[in-house]
Amino acid sequence: MPVLDDVQAMYNADTKGMLKALWELPEQCARAWELGMAADVSPMDDLRQVVVTGLGGSAIGGDLLRVYAAQRLDVPVVVNRDYVLPEFVGPHTLVFAVSYSGNTEETLSAYAQAREKGASLVVLTTGGKLGEMARNDGVPVITVPGGIAPRSATGYLFIPTLAVLYRMGLLPDLSHEVAECVSLLQSMREELKPEVPRDSNQAKMLAASFHNRIPVIWGSSGTTEVVAQRWKGQINENAKAPACWNVFPELNHNELVGFEFPGELLRRLYVVILRDPRDHPRVQKRFAITREIMEGAVAGVVEIMARGSGALARMYSLVYIGDYASVYLAMLYGVDPGPVRVIDTLKARLAEE
Ligand code: PA5
Repeated sequence: MPVLDDVQAMYNADTKGMLKALWELPEQCARAWELGMAADVSPMDDLRQVVVTGLGGSAIGGDLLRVYAAQRLDVPVVVNRDYVLPEFVGPHTLVFAVSYSGNTEETLSAYAQAREKGASLVVLTTGGKLGEMARNDGVPVITVPGGIAPRSATGYLFIPTLAVLYRMGLLPDLSHEVAECVSLLQSMREELKPEVPRDSNQAKMLAASFHNRIPVIWGSSGTTEVVAQRWKGQINENAKAPACWNVFPELNHNELVGFEFPGELLRRLYVVILRDPRDHPRVQKRFAITREIMEGAVAGVVEIMARGSGALARMYSLVYIGDYASVYLAMLYGVDPGPVRVIDTLKARLAEE
């Protein structure tokens, strides 16, 4: 697979600068915290729920928040990927309306509903209609830099929500966690960048294992579940290829049973188990037993352990490997990782009607 070691060819094929955005992710995370800290927000009385409403690359930050906050926040975080908000949304709800472009119709609809229901709103966007509506309505807007793909902007679309919740007195000051995450990613990019040859580059090796196979990404509830979902989405959007994801322990109660037939197709699956030192001890036992049960049926199984000590660094360390691997997989398929023609076509067709 010489293409993975032809550094110049990879940069040339990447017309939207996905590799550059990946290289700059650590600095994006640092800047994102500052943007959130500068937002014009104030504490809410009797906050009962937090909702993040968005789609695709603008929604995954909501899941990062949901998982991150589950053990730290005494109200639930719900992620809404729809035109319609849940019935419970009302004056005691904080809604983050997130759209990188600011023009995603589902998010515009959910934003309008949040206004009608009297929820408190914070908008994260580069601008678009959402930015305009929020400014006219006097809703706080965190304006994030444009010019990259929405899915390259997870730092901008997630980390400011942590800063806002800190400023509202709901989370502790997380600046030290952000700093750890930034410096971990800065050291990891030296291992994952295109200039590092395939034999010593974990992301390139993963891409090679995924090539002409279906990646199956497994995480664990409460730790790596959102990362598994992220890997799947990144493989879809960057490599234009299918992938599946699921979580322990749930997958032990259904998906694992389905590793008997059809044998020929199962041999096309490549399984990744994303691990975190904080995975529940009983779940950790399940990894080895699960491998024993299905390993011979599939093309391969690999386990990847999160790095870092804070939850933010641990989540992003795994996100970073998957993001790089998905771009390298795009190179192996000979596609440009940036453009998402199918999404653009769908949006344009819907706009006609
Ligand atoms: O990564 C992408 O380009 C998509 O998943 C978009 O994020 C999604 O279509 C929503 O668009 P936006 O992020 O602009 O609201």
